[in-house]
Amino acid sequence: MGRLQDKVAVITGGASGIGAATARLFVSEGAKVVLVDLNEEKGKAFETELKTLNKEALFIKANITSEEEVVNIFKQTVEAFGKVDIVFNNAGIGRVQPSHELEYSEWRNTVNVDLDGVFLVARESIREMLKTGGGTIVNTASMYGLVGSPGSAAYNAAKGGVVNLTRSLALEYAEKNIRVNALCPGFIDTPIIPEESKQVLAAATPMKRLGQAEEMAKGVLFLASDDSSFMTGNTLTVDGGYTAQ
Ligand SMILES: NC(=O)c1ccc[n+]([C@@H]2O[C@H](COP(=O)([O-])OP(=O)(O)OC[C@H]3O[C@@H](n4cnc5c(N)ncnc54)[C@H](O)[C@@H]3O)[C@@H](O)[C@H]2O)c1
Repeated sequence: MGRLQDKVAVITGGASGIGAATARLFVSEGAKVVLVDLNEEKGKAFETELKTLNKEALFIKANITSEEEVVNIFKQTVEAFGKVDIVFNNAGIGRVQPSHELEYSEWRNTVNVDLDGVFLVARESIREMLKTGGGTIVNTASMYGLVGSPGSAAYNAAKGGVVNLTRSLALEYAEKNIRVNALCPGFIDTPIIPEESKQVLAAATPMKRLGQAEEMAKGVLFLASDDSSFMTGNTLTVDGGYTAQ
C-alpha cells in the first residue's frame, strides 16, 4: 500500500518542475492526481504519460488568478474522482528586476499569481474539504518568503504573504481536520530559473549545487501525508543550507 493510496491530489503548476516531480512521486504512492496548469501542451503530454503508466491522472487547463477557473478545477475534480484529499498549491512565477524599474503592472501580476492565486486555490480546497471532513494543503512559498533578497521585491512580498497565509488558514481550520503547511524551497533546478543564473545561484548555496525537483517532492509528500499528522501552520525549508547563513 502506498502512503497516499486512493487519495485524490490536486497539484497546481503540475505540468513542470516541482509540481510535476511531486505528481510522479504521488502516483507512485497510490494517489490519483489532477494536474492544473496554464501550459496545456506540457500538461496534456504529462497526463498521457502518467496514464500510459496505468496511473490515474487528469489535466485541467486553468489560470489560478481566475476565480471562475479555480472554482471549476474543484468541480471537475469532484466529478472525476469524487473528492479532494490533498492540494499542492504550487503554481507560481518569478522574475528578477530592480525595484525602482518595476512597473506597477508587473508588481500586480506577480502578487496576483503568487499570492492571490494561492488564496483562491486554498479557499476552494477548504470549501471542498469541509464537505468531506478534512484534508491537507501544502502551499509552495520560498526561502524568499523567510528572508529578503535584492531584485525580487514583488516575489518576496508575495511569498512572505504565502507563509503567513499558511499560518492563518492553519489556525482557522485546525479543528476541522484541515492541515495547512508550506514548503520553502531554495534554488531548485527547474525552468523557472534562467539557464544563465544557475551557476551563480549554485555558488550562493552552501551545498554548492541547485536542489532537484525530486528533493522538493519528498518534502511535499511528507507534508501532504499522515507522516506529518501533528504539523500545521509550519514551514519546511529545503534549501541546501541557504537560510542558515
Ligand atoms: N525553482 C526554484 O528555485 C524555486 C524556489 C522557491 C520557490 N519556487 C516556487 O515553486 C513553485 C513551482 O515552481 P517551479 O520551480 O517548479 O517552476 P516551473 O516554472 O517549472 O513550474 C511552475 C508552473 O506553474 C505554472 N503556472 C504559472 N502561472 C500559472 C497560473 N497563473 N495558473 C496556472 N499555472 C501557472 C507554469 O505554467 C509552470 O508549469 C513556484 O511557486 C515557485 O515560485 C521555486
